[in-house]
Amino acid sequence: MDTSRKHPLYAPLAPPGGSSGLRMPATGGGAASGCFRQGVASAGSRAPRLGWAPERDDEMADQMAPAGAPHGAAGEAPGETRRDFLKLTTGAFAAVGVGVMAWPFIHSMNPARDVLALASTEVDLSPIQAGQSVTVVWRGKPVFVRHRTAEEIQQARATPLSELKDPQPDQGRVQRDQWLVVLGVCTHLGCVPLGQKPTDARGNYGGWFCPCHGSHYDTSGRIRLGPAPTNLAIPEYSFTSDTQIRIG
Ligand code: FES
Repeated sequence: MDTSRKHPLYAPLAPPGGSSGLRMPATGGGAASGCFRQGVASAGSRAPRLGWAPERDDEMADQMAPAGAPHGAAGEAPGETRRDFLKLTTGAFAAVGVGVMAWPFIHSMNPARDVLALASTEVDLSPIQAGQSVTVVWRGKPVFVRHRTAEEIQQARATPLSELKDPQPDQGRVQRDQWLVVLGVCTHLGCVPLGQKPTDARGNYGGWFCPCHGSHYDTSGRIRLGPAPTNLAIPEYSFTSDTQIRIG
């Protein structure tokens, strides 16, 4: 038998003339056909054959797969499944880790409790007698809360708008006639006007007086005399009950 004509790699094992003493399998299809390659393959082993080289990319996988395994799936499916699982697990742990690490940073951007508390201020009006004023701090600024007398209300309402530098009716500056709530900041250069204490000068119009440059405000907090250009500002506030307001 001249096996060298089947494949060049067989030549050393079966030189022409058969003098090397290599015997061909006595049984099996290979013996019948006289082909050494076919004879080894038919012996039932799936190990790579001696002198064999894969002719297709997936031929090695077929050779290494257990007998009966589906073609092309035996050497790939378990590995790919394991890789997919590792990728998913790694991704999930990475996402959780990023979230855990980022949370303190995100949480630090929320306003602190003391800052939230300063965003609004509750004021109990019940101890403030008619004619008295109190000063509360809201967002770092003084707020004047005055319990006006009937005379002060009447004085504010009797003033013609034509006499005002910054015309505003008194009714548009209060929510309840007796309670006036204004920012205690002079609209000229930001001084805090006098007039909160009973002993303070209240200016020519019975409201507040800013000694910095001589601005006079009336009982509605409107500018009546001096360099201040506008009335005392009204902060955002609301009545939460008959005796309490929330500023901010
Ligand atoms: S700051 Fe009040 S008058 Fe100048």
